[in-house]
Amino acid sequence: MSEQSLLNDVKDYYGKVLKTSDDLKTNACKTACQKMPNHLLKTMKLVHDDVVAKYYGCGLIIPENVQGCKVLDLGSGSGRDCYILSKLVGENGQVTGIDMTEEQIDVARKYIDYHTKTFGFSKPNVEFKKGYIERLREAGIAKNEYDVIVSNCVVNLSPDKRAVLREAYDSLKVGGEMYFSDVYCDKFLPEHIRKDKVLWGECLSGALAWTELVQLAEEVGFCKPRLVKASPITVDNEEMEKIVTGYKFVSATYRLVKLPLDLQPKCQVIYEGNIEGAEEEFFLDYATSFKAGDVVSVDSEVATILHCSRYNSDFTLQPCDKGQNGSACCPTTKKHNPDPFALLEGKGYTDVGCCGPSKKDSGCSPPTSSKAQGCCPAST
Ligand SMILES: C[S@@+](CC[C@H](N)C(=O)[O-])C[C@H]1O[C@@H](n2cnc3c(N)ncnc32)[C@H](O)[C@@H]1O
Repeated sequence: MSEQSLLNDVKDYYGKVLKTSDDLKTNACKTACQKMPNHLLKTMKLVHDDVVAKYYGCGLIIPENVQGCKVLDLGSGSGRDCYILSKLVGENGQVTGIDMTEEQIDVARKYIDYHTKTFGFSKPNVEFKKGYIERLREAGIAKNEYDVIVSNCVVNLSPDKRAVLREAYDSLKVGGEMYFSDVYCDKFLPEHIRKDKVLWGECLSGALAWTELVQLAEEVGFCKPRLVKASPITVDNEEMEKIVTGYKFVSATYRLVKLPLDLQPKCQVIYEGNIEGAEEEFFLDYATSFKAGDVVSVDSEVATILHCSRYNSDFTLQPCDKGQNGSACCPTTKKHNPDPFALLEGKGYTDVGCCGPSKKDSGCSPPTSSKAQGCCPAST
């Protein structure tokens, strides 16, 4: 099947076959949804019912600290997440949704004025573009422009996942992150399952094995995916369960960060406790968290993420205290494992003892391309 005919089938599914989320045949885009935290619920309640009725996401893709940010949503659908983010980025921020399906874009655009008024903004801060997420430049999306890219249950539908990740990487500023939820399988899916059009439309048969995501993300230049959350998908349709017997699915939310070429040395960080919704503890991933006021030793990759990203002003970074045997920082975080199935089985991480030599603990593969990365902001 050609890539274009696959894209056309997906357009047809989301534009014509499905009218609301009640028409979905499996629970891939329903029950895997993570519970909305209280601080987001009040914003969610402001989103128009027609927009919410056509929500087909599989996770929570609202990262922390987005005020004033430029955000791009890949496969924005009817716009639910864009509108939540529109409220959170505020009048000085900007949200762009991109989707290839006319009917989805029409619903999203119809309610721009409604949400502008509801949020009390003097002018809209959200726009919806029609286009393909594999070809963002064609849709007028600039390079090195975005602080955050989100996406909810869309990458699995693409026939060219590498192109999606590469375009996303190019669109982000250095220090920006792709924060996205999608469906993953525990192993590679065979051709006969991949060819099932309904299972593809239901976000199952186009799913990457989670190991493929790790590989693709690093190939395009991102650091190793940092797993934030995972929830099981049970399929919940007898006929379809038969087709995928022997394969396990999960909905997982990852952060992919675009780092500069030069990494920060490992160091100690103190979280100030000012991030809304994370006042007591901020989770970079499920295994790496920072309690407000605690001094935490971090490896080079985490130090770089905190130094170069929009989280910079929420952390104080300081050089390591000299430890025993002249070894400096000993990361107190647990060793992060990006396998969402291991996390669901309670085997998500191993405790790290004392860190090894600094050159070993970055865990980051700098991009192989020669593209200039720019500098990250100076620590405040
Ligand atoms: C499962 S729905 C999710 C929609 C939205 N993110 C949400 O949470 O409600 C998938 C959406 O991605 C869009 N989509 C799928 N593949 C795409 C592609 N290659 N380029 C642009 N949009 C795509 C579809 O049109 C559809 O609106």
